[in-house]
Amino acid sequence: MELDFDTPELADRVYPILASLVTPRPIALVSTIDSEGRVNAAPFSFFNLFGAKPPICAFAPGNRDDGTPKDTALNIQANSEFVINLVDEALAEGMNRCAASLPFGESELKCAGLTTTASTTIKPPCIAEAPVSLECKTWDILEIGHNRMVIGLIQRVHLRDELYDAEKQRVLSEKIMMVGRMASPHWYCRTRDRFELIRPE
Ligand SMILES: Cc1cc2nc3c(=O)[nH]c(=O)nc-3n(C[C@H](O)[C@H](O)[C@H](O)COP(=O)(O)O)c2cc1C
Repeated sequence: MELDFDTPELADRVYPILASLVTPRPIALVSTIDSEGRVNAAPFSFFNLFGAKPPICAFAPGNRDDGTPKDTALNIQANSEFVINLVDEALAEGMNRCAASLPFGESELKCAGLTTTASTTIKPPCIAEAPVSLECKTWDILEIGHNRMVIGLIQRVHLRDELYDAEKQRVLSEKIMMVGRMASPHWYCRTRDRFELIRPE
């Protein structure tokens, strides 16, 4: 099978096809604040880490069907700060509730029963229930066609004590039960089934 996205019949199928193929994707539950300090949270799976020197990550908040930017993008355009909260099994349902389209300024966190803790370097808070939170300042926002890509410089990493061996400066990754985004629109995976492949010299 070979697909040509320039074929008119596939015009509306590009997103569901690609989003069901490029899997699993990590999920960023992004917390931001508006000009009145109200906290917004929304999940984004067009997200990843892109480098370590300096540490950068990026995610892609698209527009709503009516062409207006989502609240996350509006808040970041206004104050350039955001927290990427990573999603494990325990946070999956709360993350999903945060995808509800609430009126601007209304808190998804409250609706999802989630709470916050203060960040160190930026105003938007971390989500307390997340195993890992990355404080980010915007490096750039790229607009490519209808896509918007927010690139963030990671300022601080917060992770649960039991997930880190401070002596060895090593993440205890076997204890992190992240979930991944699978086929559009409703599928996810657990990451419990792991295996090791030693790289050849
Ligand atoms: C698991 C998951 C992943 C999502 N990934 C994206 C994404 O990468 N880009 C996007 O624009 N919307 C994505 N969404 C939809 C947004 O979360 C949704 O539009 C949300 O209401 C936006 O909230 P906001 O207006 O508060 O920013 C995703 C939803 C879910 C449940």
